[in-house]
Amino acid sequence: LRVLSVTSEAVPLVKTGGLADVAGALPAAVAPHGVEVTTLLPGYPQVLARLGRKRVVHTWDSLLGEPARLLGGMLGDSPLVVLDAPSLFVRDGSPYLDPAGRDWSDNWLRFAALGRAAADLAAGAMVVRGKRRQFDVLHAHDWQAAMAPAYLHWGMPPEAPLVPSVMTIHNIAFQGWQGAEIFPRLGLPREAWSVDGVEYHGGISMLKAGLVTASAITTVSPTYAQEIRTEEFGMGLQGLMVARSRDLSGILNGIDAATWNPESDPLIAKNYTARTLSRKVANKRALEAEFGLEPGKGPRAGGPLFVVITRLTWQKGVDVLLEAIDHLVGLGGRLALLGSGDADMEARFHEAAARHPGRVAVKIGYDEGLSHRMQAGGDAILVPSRFEPCGLTQLYGLAYGCVPVVARTGGLADTVIDANPAALAAGVATGVQHGAVSYESLVAALSRTATLYGRPEEWVRLQRNGMAADFSWNASGQAYVELYRSLSR
Ligand code: ADP
Ligand code: GLC
Repeated sequence: LRVLSVTSEAVPLVKTGGLADVAGALPAAVAPHGVEVTTLLPGYPQVLARLGRKRVVHTWDSLLGEPARLLGGMLGDSPLVVLDAPSLFVRDGSPYLDPAGRDWSDNWLRFAALGRAAADLAAGAMVVRGKRRQFDVLHAHDWQAAMAPAYLHWGMPPEAPLVPSVMTIHNIAFQGWQGAEIFPRLGLPREAWSVDGVEYHGGISMLKAGLVTASAITTVSPTYAQEIRTEEFGMGLQGLMVARSRDLSGILNGIDAATWNPESDPLIAKNYTARTLSRKVANKRALEAEFGLEPGKGPRAGGPLFVVITRLTWQKGVDVLLEAIDHLVGLGGRLALLGSGDADMEARFHEAAARHPGRVAVKIGYDEGLSHRMQAGGDAILVPSRFEPCGLTQLYGLAYGCVPVVARTGGLADTVIDANPAALAAGVATGVQHGAVSYESLVAALSRTATLYGRPEEWVRLQRNGMAADFSWNASGQAYVELYRSLSR
């Protein structure tokens, strides 16, 4: 079975968040089940630079008005196809933002072109060893790839093969909105312009276009699959999610054990396992030094060292964490934060660090290696999200014995077992959950965590339970394969 996975980011080539981890891991997750995933990525400079010799597998004179071609390559052990369209993708800045941090004004065109290219590719545009390569299923990730199912549905010549599609929602908050004036430039038939089509409140929603046309819809946790049917979480698309609920399911993200494993991680100060947890302390000392935090004395002196690794946005609830920092320090805790995003929040975290020297330290930026060292050195990772489709940092925390303290929402609710009295008695707890993020709920969770931390036996039990939990791709890879097979039949 051949699947074309269409994504705007994938590790190890380009990453701004969890989507890259998941899209990068998907090929290896399904390969053991006989499914070959080819990944289609935009030709950003960093992707082209890593491609090596350029093998052209298809050329368009005009892809929605832009010159473009497809280049073949490899992503790890799996095939990669890169959309080389320099006028769209060869720019300084991030995949979505200009160097000043604003959305590129032509993002709609950049990612509509990705969708158009994906549909052509799925239907056989690429020639491999003299033969047209057709795909059995197209798998689109988030709004940036969402026009692919729409073009498969509305934009193919009559002789083209029918290719079923999966639309995965990694985050329903980002929808690719644009004014109605771009509609003629999408090259879609008039019938696509309707409330059952791309039209959304008088404009265009690219995510909606994909959700309306995909054969099946998935999101990245069972709880989020329920939540997006409600007004609170559906971001305006809850009605559509209810209407399509028969085709909507939640498949939990896994983690890539080759990259995120404290036993073999080359990026951390000292490797350890659940049996050699005492070695984790070396990572804690190294992290304190790196962040300029007051060193703890014994293995547990100084209260828990909390870490946060996140985009600094409203979604992540970090504004509430800012309010709770004094309480965290008052409990004897310390905080190391790595993040970037909202400039105002960055400034407020710097202020908090200045207020609590040696107790609160902040690094603004994006640093993959440091994110590993923080999971290895931290006692607990805070994820106070307002909504969280799956969340990966709590999964990495579980694997590293960095106990997750999370809001009870989305994938956080599905992956962390709260240390309530029943779970503690049964010996199954893996972390701490709190209700909808607020100052009160967060402060209570921090206090509860500090109490647990003060009981070494219970704490080590939490760490070991988390490290023993299976968040590999085995089960989820199988779930995607079953879905692909059911669609290709
Ligand atoms: P989201 O995709 O919503 O940002 P996830 O928890 O699914 O949230 O994934 C975030 C990914 O990005 C994780 O791999 C996390 O380690 C990483 N990450 C987030 N912020 C940073 C940062 N400032 N530096 C390094 N890695 C980061
Ligand atoms: C999104 C979500 C996050 C999820 C990630 C990968 O960025 O915000 O919760 O883990 O996608 O699916």
